[in-house]
Amino acid sequence: MDKLPAHNPDSNMGDYNAACRDFRWEEVLKNFEFSSTGRVNAAHEAVDRHVKTMGDRIALRFLDDEEEETYTFQELSLASNRFANLLLELGVNKKDRVFIFMPRSLELYIAFFGILKVGAIPVPLFEAFMREGLLDRMGDCDPVAVVTHESLKERIPRDEVETLESVIVVGGTEENEIGFDEIKTKDSSFEPVWLDLDDPLLIHYTSGSTGKPKGVLHAQRAIIGHYQTGKWILDLNKDDNYWCTADPGWVTGTSYGIFAPLLNGVGTIIRQGRFTAERWYETIERAKVTVWYTAPTALRLLMGEKEDTASKFDLSSLRYILSVGEPLNPEVIRWALKVYKQPIHDTWWMTETGMIMISNYPSMPIKPGSMGKPFPGVEAAIIDDNGKELGVNEVGNLALKKGWPSMMKEIWKREEKFKEYFIFDPWFISGDSAYIDEDGYFHFHGRVDDVINTAGERVGPFEVESRLVEHPRIVEAAVIGKPDPVRGEIIKAFVVVRGVIEDREALCRELIEFVKGGLAAHSAPREIEFIDTLPKTRSGKIMQRVLKARELGYDLGDLSGAGEGV
Ligand code: WTA
Repeated sequence: MDKLPAHNPDSNMGDYNAACRDFRWEEVLKNFEFSSTGRVNAAHEAVDRHVKTMGDRIALRFLDDEEEETYTFQELSLASNRFANLLLELGVNKKDRVFIFMPRSLELYIAFFGILKVGAIPVPLFEAFMREGLLDRMGDCDPVAVVTHESLKERIPRDEVETLESVIVVGGTEENEIGFDEIKTKDSSFEPVWLDLDDPLLIHYTSGSTGKPKGVLHAQRAIIGHYQTGKWILDLNKDDNYWCTADPGWVTGTSYGIFAPLLNGVGTIIRQGRFTAERWYETIERAKVTVWYTAPTALRLLMGEKEDTASKFDLSSLRYILSVGEPLNPEVIRWALKVYKQPIHDTWWMTETGMIMISNYPSMPIKPGSMGKPFPGVEAAIIDDNGKELGVNEVGNLALKKGWPSMMKEIWKREEKFKEYFIFDPWFISGDSAYIDEDGYFHFHGRVDDVINTAGERVGPFEVESRLVEHPRIVEAAVIGKPDPVRGEIIKAFVVVRGVIEDREALCRELIEFVKGGLAAHSAPREIEFIDTLPKTRSGKIMQRVLKARELGYDLGDLSGAGEGV
């Protein structure tokens, strides 16, 4: 497909090249109160400071199948003050970790800002995680408190996390738990704990190709990037009805479901419930969504619906659509032009980068299949395995030059993991491969490691393999991402089992349930193959690459390190 004309030349950013030429991060700082006061707290910048000028504007708009409930900036400010006071009484201090393990709800956002106000570090976790998934993450960063819901609290490994003192529950409470409703009895005034730009903001757990999930710690300064990308990439204006479909358990749900809109004084729509085409389209119609930030898998699922599903709803409010998390096929853009009468704008970034780094801007022509161009002030390049910059159309490591405000501050307690990203300092190595075409547009090529991207969610093979081998029938397991037309990749497991298999299908089902029940539904394999031995290096490391090559019928390439089983 050829280049598409710019979707909206009159967007906030205006001309891309001019924006790049004149851009200075120092200028962006002027939009924050801390630039004059010298005191930083992300909750103050995102919520409290708006109370004076637009306290009665809607900050949160929560919808479920039947109802709708809203919170103005003022209401959110007061409720999170109450929550902060509750935390203080519980002895939660600056830099303490507080997990948020909740379904999407207004309470989740109130807790999030309350935690920020006491200077503690929120660790939002997707509600699908089960006991072991929680234990891996809680055991890593030692939280003092968790905010949860009665439907999820059973999964919290209270006995095994020694630091965990307070369990705050929305809904029914039992002994040793604190009811969320207690905030009603707390004072609604609170002076935020003032911090520095480099102090912690939050932690998101994400997966690498080896080892357990890592805690990506962001600093308060991240909000500088959230603000500016919200303004220029999401193109947010005060009257927009903005819906980011990501859950706050993932980085998109916080950076762009919370910070970017609220920092810009724009409300954020929260939709409860699982994905169905009807539910999503109904949300757009009911909330008159103007700007919609979503993911390719969701769009591909919508594309797979019957032709007339979209036409049953009034989607005419939509003025701008973006996606993130996986490659966006040109086919999806073509379909969107037909059904939504507009293209989808692809954006590229990672948990570690904290903000969108490469994107298609409303004022820039889209090349379908390309992720777009670097954000002004961001330097991106393709470098080879020796750190040398590559030229036009050469595939290599997608790298970003250190110095953008939202870059992670550290990997929790694992300095060596952090350093692995900077082997070619000052370049941050993303782990993705890509190339730049003759017009300066970036194109995604693949992952360089074994990280799996299923429906836009990052899954580390190690975590799934570890869970599988806990099953009494499993001797060894290896997990790969297998290409899938809808989900990008699905998880496929190769397992060596003990004893005779009598009923393959039943055992497959049992293993899938075993991963779902222990770890998380999105981490469970969709396919399982029984195998006699796994390919390994001479030192005994499983070679997922070999299994993947075999699965896809590729040339096995250089396997000189290989030992038995190849
Ligand atoms: C992948 C999500 C292709 C990529 C915000 C990256 C993409 C990983 C795109 C980060 C895109 C993200 N096109 N691939 N537009 N955006 N990815 O940390 O492999 O959950 O490294 O952050 O998703 O996933 P994460």
